[in-house]
Amino acid sequence: AAWEKQVRHSSTPRRVNGFSVLVTGAAGFIGSHCSLALKKRGDGVLGLDNFNDYYDPSLKRARQNLLSKHQIFIVEGDLNDGPLLTKLFDVVPFSHVLHLAAQAGVRYAMQNPQSYVKSNIAGFVNLLEVAKAVNPQPAIVWASSSSVYGLNTENPFSEHDRTDRPASLYAATKKAGEEIAHTYNHIYGLSLTGLRFFTVYGPWGRPDMAYFFFTKDILQGKPIDIYRTQDQKAVARDFTYIDDVVKGCLGALDTAEKSTGSGGKKKGPAQLRVYNLGNTSPVPVGRLVSILEGLLNTKAKKHVITLPRNGDVPYTHANVTLAYKDFGYKPTTDLAAGLRKFVKWYVSYFGIESKRSKETQHFDESS
Ligand code: NAD
Ligand code: UGA
Repeated sequence: AAWEKQVRHSSTPRRVNGFSVLVTGAAGFIGSHCSLALKKRGDGVLGLDNFNDYYDPSLKRARQNLLSKHQIFIVEGDLNDGPLLTKLFDVVPFSHVLHLAAQAGVRYAMQNPQSYVKSNIAGFVNLLEVAKAVNPQPAIVWASSSSVYGLNTENPFSEHDRTDRPASLYAATKKAGEEIAHTYNHIYGLSLTGLRFFTVYGPWGRPDMAYFFFTKDILQGKPIDIYRTQDQKAVARDFTYIDDVVKGCLGALDTAEKSTGSGGKKKGPAQLRVYNLGNTSPVPVGRLVSILEGLLNTKAKKHVITLPRNGDVPYTHANVTLAYKDFGYKPTTDLAAGLRKFVKWYVSYFGIESKRSKETQHFDESS
């Protein structure tokens, strides 16, 4: 295969000192940022991504181009391709896997439930089946989600809080991932660390997320929906800036125990860990919109509507004490500062569209 030639002829993904990390979902939002950060600090990185069209794949290709400028190669393939995964581990003896590939998005689970089962359950099991069999086993850090807290009302959410009321199929598959991880840790001694990310945003972000399409719609003068709960309270999220999340991912990799590779013969001491990676400061969606209005210097056409039963939870709020204690995780970017960086990127990436909308704005003002 073309990738094999590429990988064999470069020393990039292999390291004698430092980690060699397989990053799944490397053409994705969080995966591309983490790949760059790992590479910059001297670790070896190889990506895997299927470049699916859940959102515009041209954005994934643009991230791939950025990564390739830093000599990071992404193998095009699916998590469910067992022979491919086995081959990857044959060619590169990965010390770590940062598993971020998944079907993300909460509301889309109502339209395409099977895609969540395929990537988040079957694909995850496939990866673990391959990882358990390699020797030595890699330490695995994988993406869970704040959505596992579901309809929780504890405030803020701590890792030991109940997670038995997922509000969406997405959340249910992420919760299933945590149970599956427990099993592979218990039987095969795989070292597994789950990270519950809280609504991550920033440059190179996901077009299916609210902050991203709100920016687009505000610039294009299109109306946006702002959800309120059934009892007319503001819906809020613990929006977390990408650079903080990247630091958390690297910290989790750095502190991951090596696997025991017990192969089922004895119960391994390798840990199963789960951490919240949030911002510890929930913000109502209305406030997100007013920050964007200020940054874009444009008024939004706001429709405040009662939250439909679409899988969304009313509220998220992370307690990150555990991640702080174990690897010094401390979010440092507030929503206004992070959105400023996002908008700067957005305008430079979609230059023409924003110019066009400025013209429209000018027209509106003068007419
Ligand atoms: P993303 O969609 O940008 O990235 C995921 C990448 O995985 C995509 O590039 C996609 O093409 C790839 N992929 C999907 N299914 C695959 C498969 N079967 N085989 C190979 N590649 C596949 O999403 P993201 O925001 O970067 O999220 C990364 C991870 O973090 C996901 O697991 C997501 O569920 C989780 N997460 C994200 C957020 C957030 O707010 N962004 C919050 C909580 C959890
Ligand atoms: C995000 C990601 O999309 C999920 O992949 C991830 O797992 C999840 O975070 C998480 O933290 O676990 P979500 O919080 O729903 O999910 O992010 P957005 O889709 O960007 O929505 C943000 C907020 O805007 C939510 O409160 C949502 O209810 C609200 N919203 C969304 C609106 O008010 N109007 C809309 O039209 C869309």
